[in-house]
Amino acid sequence: MQKHILQISATEYTSINELSENDKALILAARESSGKAYAPYSRFKVGAALKLDNGEIVTGNNQENADFTDGLCAERVALFYAHATYPDSAVKALAVTAQNPDGFLKDSAKPCGSCRQAMVETEVRFKQPIRLILDGADGILVFENAESLLPFAFKPDSLG
Ligand code: THU
Repeated sequence: MQKHILQISATEYTSINELSENDKALILAARESSGKAYAPYSRFKVGAALKLDNGEIVTGNNQENADFTDGLCAERVALFYAHATYPDSAVKALAVTAQNPDGFLKDSAKPCGSCRQAMVETEVRFKQPIRLILDGADGILVFENAESLLPFAFKPDSLG
């Protein structure tokens, strides 16, 4: 028997002003995009903004549907649009933010499991880590890669 202990590390910033201009711009783009979300059912508006290695910033927000399971999260809207438009560009960084009718969340945004899976696929596809920036009014968490948020991820080599 062997016990495995996994550790993940993140850096927490208490203000957006502590971040680099690049990261700040990404958070601001995500916040702006969250305001354009189509979320009439949950009233939970999520915004994502990613930076490609060609310099482009691509944004996305959650798109809901009266048939609830047909909606899509902000992160995957942004990732899939980026890959459909710039199929050869790696994703360098991705910022996520969320607001409800009371305003932007105090706690940092939490990408769902399916979005983490899509991020890991992108990391594998382009062989580059995605710097993940999770925005929150009381603290911004930065992870150096998405896979650290999805230990034991299902990856291409998991197919055998
Ligand atoms: N949502 C996202 O856009 N991203 C996530 O990572 C978590 C959840 C959306 C889906 C749905 O429209 C709303 O937030 C409430 O779950």
